Amino acid sequence: MKWRILTSEEKMAKMEVKTSLLDNMIGVGDMVLLEPLDEDSFINNLKKRYDHNEVYTYIGSVVISINPYRSLPIYTPEKVEEYRNRNFYELSPHIFALSDEAYRSLRDQDKDQCILITGESGAGKTEASKLVMSYVAAVCGKGAEVNQVKEQLLQSNPVLEAFGNAKTVRNDNSSRFGKYMDIEFDFKGDPLGGVISNYLLEKSRVVKQPRGERNFHIFYQILSGASEDFLCKLKLERDFSRYNYLGLDSAKVNGVDDAANFRTVRNAMQIVGFMDHETQSVFEVVAAVLKLGNIEFKPESRVNGLDESKIKDKNELKEICELTGIDQSVLERAFSFRTVEAKQEKVSTTLNVAQAYYARDALAKNLYSRLFSWLVTRINESIKAQTKVRKKVMGVLDIYGFEIFEDNSFEQFIINYCNEKLQQIFIELTLKEEQEEYIREGIEWTHIEYFNNAIICDLIENNQTGILAMLDEECLRPGTVTDDTFLEKLNQVCATHQHFESRMSKCSRFLNDTSLPHSCFRIQHYAGKVMYQVEGFVDKNNDLLYRDLSQAMWKASHSLIKALFPEGNPTKINLKRPPTAGSQFKASVATLMKNLQTKNPNYIRCIKPNDKKAAHIFNDALVCHQIRYLGLLENVRVRRAGYAFRQAYEPCLERYKMLCKQTWPHWRGPARAGVEVLFNELEIPEEEFSFGRSKIFIRNPRTLFKLEDLRKQRLEDLATLIEKIYRGWKCRTRFLLMKKSQIVIASWYRRYAQQKKYQKIKNSAVIVQSYIRGWKARKLLRELKHQKRCNEAATIIAAYWHGTQARRELKRLKEEARRKHAVAVIWAYWLGLKVRREYRKFFRANAGRKIYEFTLQRLMQKYFLEMKNKVPSLSPIDKNWPARPYLFLDSTHKELKRIFHLWRCKKYRDQFTDQQKLIYEEKLEASELFKDKKALYPASVGQPFQGAYLEISKNPKYKKLKDAVDEKIIIAEVVNKINRANGKATSRIFLLTKNNVLLADQKSGNIKSEVPLGDVTKVSMSSQNDGFFAVHLKEGSGAAGKGDFLLSSDHLIEMATKLYRTTLSQTKQKLNIEISDEFLVQFRQDKVCVKFIQGSQKNGNIPTCKRKNNRLLEVAVP
Ligand SMILES: Nc1ncnc2c1ncn2[C@@H]1O[C@H](COP(=O)(O)OP(=O)(O)OP(=O)(O)O)[C@@H](O)[C@H]1O
Ligand SMILES: [Mg+2]
Repeated sequence: MKWRILTSEEKMAKMEVKTSLLDNMIGVGDMVLLEPLDEDSFINNLKKRYDHNEVYTYIGSVVISINPYRSLPIYTPEKVEEYRNRNFYELSPHIFALSDEAYRSLRDQDKDQCILITGESGAGKTEASKLVMSYVAAVCGKGAEVNQVKEQLLQSNPVLEAFGNAKTVRNDNSSRFGKYMDIEFDFKGDPLGGVISNYLLEKSRVVKQPRGERNFHIFYQILSGASEDFLCKLKLERDFSRYNYLGLDSAKVNGVDDAANFRTVRNAMQIVGFMDHETQSVFEVVAAVLKLGNIEFKPESRVNGLDESKIKDKNELKEICELTGIDQSVLERAFSFRTVEAKQEKVSTTLNVAQAYYARDALAKNLYSRLFSWLVTRINESIKAQTKVRKKVMGVLDIYGFEIFEDNSFEQFIINYCNEKLQQIFIELTLKEEQEEYIREGIEWTHIEYFNNAIICDLIENNQTGILAMLDEECLRPGTVTDDTFLEKLNQVCATHQHFESRMSKCSRFLNDTSLPHSCFRIQHYAGKVMYQVEGFVDKNNDLLYRDLSQAMWKASHSLIKALFPEGNPTKINLKRPPTAGSQFKASVATLMKNLQTKNPNYIRCIKPNDKKAAHIFNDALVCHQIRYLGLLENVRVRRAGYAFRQAYEPCLERYKMLCKQTWPHWRGPARAGVEVLFNELEIPEEEFSFGRSKIFIRNPRTLFKLEDLRKQRLEDLATLIEKIYRGWKCRTRFLLMKKSQIVIASWYRRYAQQKKYQKIKNSAVIVQSYIRGWKARKLLRELKHQKRCNEAATIIAAYWHGTQARRELKRLKEEARRKHAVAVIWAYWLGLKVRREYRKFFRANAGRKIYEFTLQRLMQKYFLEMKNKVPSLSPIDKNWPARPYLFLDSTHKELKRIFHLWRCKKYRDQFTDQQKLIYEEKLEASELFKDKKALYPASVGQPFQGAYLEISKNPKYKKLKDAVDEKIIIAEVVNKINRANGKATSRIFLLTKNNVLLADQKSGNIKSEVPLGDVTKVSMSSQNDGFFAVHLKEGSGAAGKGDFLLSSDHLIEMATKLYRTTLSQTKQKLNIEISDEFLVQFRQDKVCVKFIQGSQKNGNIPTCKRKNNRLLEVAVP
């Protein structure tokens, strides 16, 4: 395989598969690969990447981080997962890759780690440290206990940031203290706890802030976020302007919600483990500090001419004393006097106004900085590891960044000194590591020139001639000590130092430099020249707090304040001067450096893209400046001094093995041999690479790019090959599948066709079969029918034959019987003849008559015996009678019938009671009177005669009538009395008693007429089917005055019969009953003829009576 150089466009276009740092790169992800390597290309690369939101870039294992000033979506849990357990160069540069690398080498290789985050103020150090911590928290062990530790470690950040960070002109959340946190892990890599070290809080900020800056966040957070109640307890007001210590011009920071942050801080304190009373005490101290600023003094002269000061308004003092539990007079005195103790002598001097203000501010600063240290101690108490097992440690250093302000004072000097030290350790460790690696791998390398800032560190920290040593010397020197004397001293000692500049120095170089005021000195730091105002250096280094004040504080009943000032305890007076701030800091930095040197360093170099704290702005000059002083270019050069790129043999072979036939797809031998074969095969010039013990070293980045290009090309070829084979496989598979499918379909079709054919044949066979069966069946049927007919014919013939035979036999038998009978008759006759001939002589005279009588007797006997069994039922109306057997008994038979009938009638009559007898007598009478005379009669036969149809005695309506008739009533019935004038009928009650006939009104029961039976001469009625009858009265009798009665009744037959019988029994004379269709009725004087005619059926079956003329009344009977 031969080299072919690709253009850079081709290179970019072909970077597709994101499996490595080298894939899909924007610019170069590792500056080591930068070609050509100069400042411009370095910045351009950073800029290009920054513009594409790639804020991280490597220099080997160092991460350069450019502050994006906006939240990027690259810190999500998915990203954490992406970077988890991946090799450092496997994915695009990220702070997580560094964190993962550090964590894994801590866990797996048992190497303590430190993560050094450097950069100037606002470059993103604190954010980076938090990202590292959160990544480690996310990937390390889980479980309730571990999670609590993690949570406490993470939540210590907001607490310390609130108390130790402030808005500066460079950074809205600038760390005003140095922080180094050791996170401790067990052998599994689970977090056990941590230890925080803090470095020199910028306490001067408590009493004074430069323009455009703020005091520490916590002051603003309390005033904005605390409830009214809480503020009242702290004796605070919400108004910022009420407090002298709060710079007003930038009290509000854009995008910062102090109130919400206050809640976060309180919550974080709770999670970290602060007790409620502790939190309360902390805020009380903060309130006290704030209120101290409001104490003002006024001058007051004393007699002896000494200046004295007095507190202007004691109200504030009083409130502070209430808050802290200090006796007001004690504090007041501490602000007015200063006691100096020397050799058992106590001298008290008064304080003038300036001294009083100095004392006040010193107290405030001390109170706050001690509170801060106490907070760190308290947090450490909570987060310290609970077990004593051996711990692995990961240190995260987030220290204030290098800063240059307009007025730089002691604090900036200290901060920048610290940064110098860090830069030095960076140089030392980086070079050392690099050097060691080459030695380890047995590779030759050439030394690279770089700027070593050890000389600046020496200028500051040298024990004899260092600036800090000078300062301490000045502070401890007896006599008048001022900042100027200190400067003078510096000018004497450091004048010749090439990094020290001063107007006053003897060195004439700066005598005319007007940019350098007389009260200042300038140091050429690694990161640039910084001019320091010498004013305040001595005081700040001394960090003096008058003993009266510390003693006053110790007397406080507030336990926290008391604890913050242990030196105030009069029993433990220490006359030794406390160490100066400078020497303290130097010592702690030295300890820190020592600590860091024992750990494996991981660098995050933060770069600030612009001064505006704004996103999307990349200020080339600013970045260039930072690159220069951070020595990043040198860093790259050192890294590339020998070889630009190095990689362990295994991953190298894995990545490029496809470029050589021997190594592709598998190399069986050791990885190094594989890489050797590979590089030989690729004909890479020998001077381009070197084989280390475990790594291959590539001298020129170009070689790596060429390898990459070849790899890309090869990958494409492989992809084409895979595609080709895949397509072939796919087509073949498809073809085979289709073939298989075709066979399946064909077989199924054939099966189907055969099934159909078979079905058809089967159907035809069935039809043929059915025809054949039908034909056979019919044939069989025919045969059977024929056979049946034959059988039937045979049967008939046989029957006929048997019949003939039988008849013949019968005839023969009959003939025989007749003959036998004839023979018997003839024989009987013959015998009879013989007997008669024989016995003729004995009874010829009477025998005939006797035989006749005997025979007659026998017949009669037989007749009567048979009759006995044949007599019909006893019912008189049964007409049955057996037939007559012998003609000669005809008259006897009839007579017998008549006698039997009479007998059974008698039998029937004998059952009657007397009453029934009477009724039947009456019925008999009626029959004699009317049978065959009156057409109404037959209908009356079936009706029983009741007589009293009206129950006169029971009906109260007829009481009167009943009373009037005292005889037995035979008939009581309603009849119609015909009006002679018009033939209309009127209802009347007809009563028949033993002696009389009475007519009474139906409604009232009044008797209308009463006729004795003797006066009734005749009763007339028609022969027809009507109920009309006339009662004729005797002429001349009393009742006859009104004439005869013409009446009609439904029970005519009964009434006439009863009237006839009663009259007969009373008068012994038969009543004349005339039945005629025309009779005369006497009405008063006239005689009217009543004529019955056959009428129409217009009125139904009711006869109608009509007066025709004076003499004729016509009754139409239907
Ligand atoms: N990775 C990041 N993503 C988004 N914003 C960031 C990031 N890093 C920093 N910032 C922004 O920059 C600001 C300054 O960052 P940070 O406080 O970390 O600076 P610093 O280096 O700690 O400064 P100092 O030395 O003053 O403490 C942050 O408040 C934040 O707004
Ligand atoms: Mg910070």
